[in-house]
Amino acid sequence: MIHYWYMIVADILLTLTAIVFGPMLRLEIFNPGNSLFNYYFRSIGSFTVLAVIIRPVLFYLTGIYRRIWRYATTCDFMTLAGTVLVGSIILFAATFFIFTPHLIPVFPRSLYILEGIISTMLLGGIRVLIKVSQRYPGDIDWKKTGIVTNRRVLIVGAGDSGINIARELKNNPQLGLQPAAFLDDDPKKIGTKTQGIHIFGPIIKLADVVREQHIDEVIIAIPSAAEQTIKNVQYMCRDIPVIFTTMPSLSSFIDGDEMVSSSLKLPMSMPDITAEEIQAVVRVMQSRNLSIGSQTVEFERLIASEADAKHAVAVTNGTSALHLCIIAANIGPDDEVITTPFSFISSANCILYEEARPVFVDIDPVSLNIDPRRIEAAITEKTKAILVVHVFGQPADMDPIFEIADRHNLIVIEDACEAIGAEYKGRRVGAIGKAGAFAFYPNKQMTTGEGAVLVTNDDGWANLFRSLRNQGRDIFDGWLNHSRLGYNYRMSELNATVGVVQLKRLSELLKKRDAVARQYNTILSSLEDVMIPLKIVPTTTRMSWSVYVVRLSPGIDRDLVIDLMAKGGIPTRPYFTPIHLQPFYRERFGFKPGDFPEAEAAGRSIIALPFHTNMKTEEIEVVYKALKDVLTEAKG
Ligand SMILES: Cc1ncc(COP(=O)(O)O)c(C=O)c1O
Repeated sequence: MIHYWYMIVADILLTLTAIVFGPMLRLEIFNPGNSLFNYYFRSIGSFTVLAVIIRPVLFYLTGIYRRIWRYATTCDFMTLAGTVLVGSIILFAATFFIFTPHLIPVFPRSLYILEGIISTMLLGGIRVLIKVSQRYPGDIDWKKTGIVTNRRVLIVGAGDSGINIARELKNNPQLGLQPAAFLDDDPKKIGTKTQGIHIFGPIIKLADVVREQHIDEVIIAIPSAAEQTIKNVQYMCRDIPVIFTTMPSLSSFIDGDEMVSSSLKLPMSMPDITAEEIQAVVRVMQSRNLSIGSQTVEFERLIASEADAKHAVAVTNGTSALHLCIIAANIGPDDEVITTPFSFISSANCILYEEARPVFVDIDPVSLNIDPRRIEAAITEKTKAILVVHVFGQPADMDPIFEIADRHNLIVIEDACEAIGAEYKGRRVGAIGKAGAFAFYPNKQMTTGEGAVLVTNDDGWANLFRSLRNQGRDIFDGWLNHSRLGYNYRMSELNATVGVVQLKRLSELLKKRDAVARQYNTILSSLEDVMIPLKIVPTTTRMSWSVYVVRLSPGIDRDLVIDLMAKGGIPTRPYFTPIHLQPFYRERFGFKPGDFPEAEAAGRSIIALPFHTNMKTEEIEVVYKALKDVLTEAKG
């Protein structure tokens, strides 16, 4: 784990090392006229003190300590080199104008140059080491997977920047970009090769090279070129037209504009994919059996066991899973389904698909789930079901809900899309009610890419689900016989095989997410305007963190916080705009602000922070610091 302080101490030590090595390289240490004491302590002492202060201060100002070097790009290393250069210039000015005339008559001028060069190399080196060592346990060694990249890239500029980009593309095949050719104006380079890649030219021939070399994308990597030259190349790309990206220019880099935009971009969420999932997908591809095969069967078997359910049926996504629940419950026009307004839109849309009416019931502000105490008042003779959502992975309070459902003969459906593995009073959610759905979009606890699974203990519902997802075919129907109106909601073998591997890792994934959430809880508890978000209520015997949300104090402008965080490179999301306030719900049903005050208050004040299984302490600290600064700004 790399902490701020370690980095500062390392930087100070490296600066000292550079200062010691500088004169050694000039062999001045052996100069008989200079004793070691005189040389180092008298002549260079003040320079050294200044250097060890200047370097860390500049690194702090340019945000170098804030970066998580795991994500370091070429641009970050350029920032580092630029900062060292600025430090050297300051040191030069200080020695030339202050020290030499007044303090150090024998100051070796070449020292600051040597010190600058050695600092750059040492500091760059240590950060490369950090980058390499900061691999997440789940990181994929992309080279080992043998993936072949297919989008061909033309790099304009065969200088250092271009060569670095080519190297990064080769080392990161997951980007899908293959450096196919360079383009340069330098006649000495044209016709030669670098990194095994041909250099074409001059740049004016861009269109021809793009056509002849079957180029898909262009990267303009001539940061030292005049702005007009870069603009000309951009125009050429627009005229062809081809996708292009431009490396930042040196001037914008020195101005500091690029330093902000190149600083750490934390992902909002990230699936934890290992080489095992990739190899499983490759094996399925090799089997040529891409749909309705053994992987889907295995995935369903594993999920049923995970959810303590008799049956599991894999489908394309959570929305289609919920749709099938509504159909299986025989809900149609004019029927009413009670549900929560504080959820992802699908949990109400699935009711509209069958032309029934969602009847919203406000939430409990502590658990953020539907408030059972308010349900009974919403029941009419048209009510057919209660669709419960286990929001953010915390189970809703099921016992009182079942009591009400039993009294009024209502079906209970569980939207457990965000809650795989969660437990209510020791029972796994999903099939506590008549049926439930788990979803596996990539931001979820585990993923299949797209996908979901229905779970139920009811044999009839399971058979119906299997028929409905498969174009209405019954078990004994032939391929072109369709017993009922059905859908193509089948999960592919590729998705299922990812699910099989992920599911085997589920308890490990949930544990890690829990650890990340706990770290967030601890660090955020010191922020006055942040309420520790989701209270884990006593009925939740196992939380399954899907996202990590915080609630801001009423006086804070939540949307401003989101904007300011985004400007600092940190994404956040306003979870959730209550469903009844979505434009088409307002239009269709006449909902208005004030209808469900608790859900609206939550919707106004909650934001989701970056959160994923392998989030590191440093990343959590980055989010915390940014949030702290932003809250001060948003308040002021
Ligand atoms: C509570 C809830 N229900 C339903 C869904 C829909 O799942 P999908 O995106 O797989 O259709 C989601 C997805 O995020 C969800 O969070």
